Amino acid sequence: MLQSHEDIVENLSEGVVAVNPLSVITVFNQSAEKMTEMSRSSVLNRALKEVFPHDARLVEMLEKTLNEGRLFAEYEERLHRRFSGTLPIGITTSQIFDANGALTGATALIKDLSGIKSLEAASLRKERLACIGQFAANLAHEIKNPLSGLRGAAQLLKRRIRDETLGEYTDVLIKEADRLNGIVNDMLDFSRPARLRIKEFNIHKALDSVILLLKDGAPVSFVKGYDPSLPPVSGDEGQLTQVFLNLMKNAKEALETDGQIKIATRILTDFHIVEEGFPAGKTVSIEIQDNGCGIKKDDLERIFTPFYTTKPKGSGLGMAISLKIIKEHGGHLKIDSSVGKGTAITVYLPLKG
Ligand SMILES: Nc1ncnc2c1ncn2[C@@H]1O[C@H](COP(=O)(O)OP(=O)(O)OP(=O)(O)O)[C@@H](O)[C@H]1O
Ligand SMILES: [Mg+2]
Repeated sequence: MLQSHEDIVENLSEGVVAVNPLSVITVFNQSAEKMTEMSRSSVLNRALKEVFPHDARLVEMLEKTLNEGRLFAEYEERLHRRFSGTLPIGITTSQIFDANGALTGATALIKDLSGIKSLEAASLRKERLACIGQFAANLAHEIKNPLSGLRGAAQLLKRRIRDETLGEYTDVLIKEADRLNGIVNDMLDFSRPARLRIKEFNIHKALDSVILLLKDGAPVSFVKGYDPSLPPVSGDEGQLTQVFLNLMKNAKEALETDGQIKIATRILTDFHIVEEGFPAGKTVSIEIQDNGCGIKKDDLERIFTPFYTTKPKGSGLGMAISLKIIKEHGGHLKIDSSVGKGTAITVYLPLKG
């Protein structure tokens, strides 16, 4: 069946705005409605300037195209939306002529660049992580030797000291040296290329083992919403269990009184995320939701940076390591958080077939 030009324009994923020679809007497709959050009926037959009072560049480009024949290609701008914040867009303009070659107007093709922008942010983060990773690996090696010297000396001292109260100090020395050693090992794990031991395993069992570990004596309720039809997932069980432990530990640490952590699993089909290397297809999602303190919008990016922590005894490596492990499994991580209400972190892992 033949499609009319209108149908094609209507269904383009780019927004289309066309004006007549008097700069009055004559075409405004569905995508333009979505991007601007304005309805077609409210903008058609109105002056371009009036409809886009905050988008001077868009108006200027269309008018220059109309009056001077200047064309713009993929010009990056930000579009003001009626309700939400601005949207990064690319604008391409062209003139419209009728069959006799007379100028009848101009169009702007508006491309939503928000997916591309978040990709740019992701690759910047990757580069930064690669640098920090190398630095951390070197530092970790340098720290390990003097650290084991310190610990050994503290142990010798402990044996020689008869005074009980002084013995407590050496215990602190040893304990703190062990804690530091743990952090250094985490750093080394983080900077080493992955050696995944992939096999099929039951995600629910892995989640249960983490819950059991964290439940111990804590006034926290865990609510499980497992999808019973979930097939086994293939991945490195140990490393993914570590991810769930990091995420649930963070959830638990964010809670105050009446704390609750919900853990839900789901299968998603034809799931698609605009992210490099993430295939569309069958996916399992594991959501860990807490009703704790939440994370400020400005801090969301930073929580993946190694050593970023808001806790007095935190090492700030939990999220960075978790993200790395998930990426190595071809997965993805999503965060929804609002301050005072809580945080939901969802891990997506690809399923075979
Ligand atoms: N569920 C959550 N609720 C509130 N804040 C969170 C949550 N998860 C992470 N954060 C924030 O992100 C920061 C970084 O988390 P990450 O797990 O990387 O380090 P950490 O928990 O501080 O230390 P570590 O996990 O190494 O002991 C935390 O300090 C906290 O501010
Ligand atoms: Mg943590």
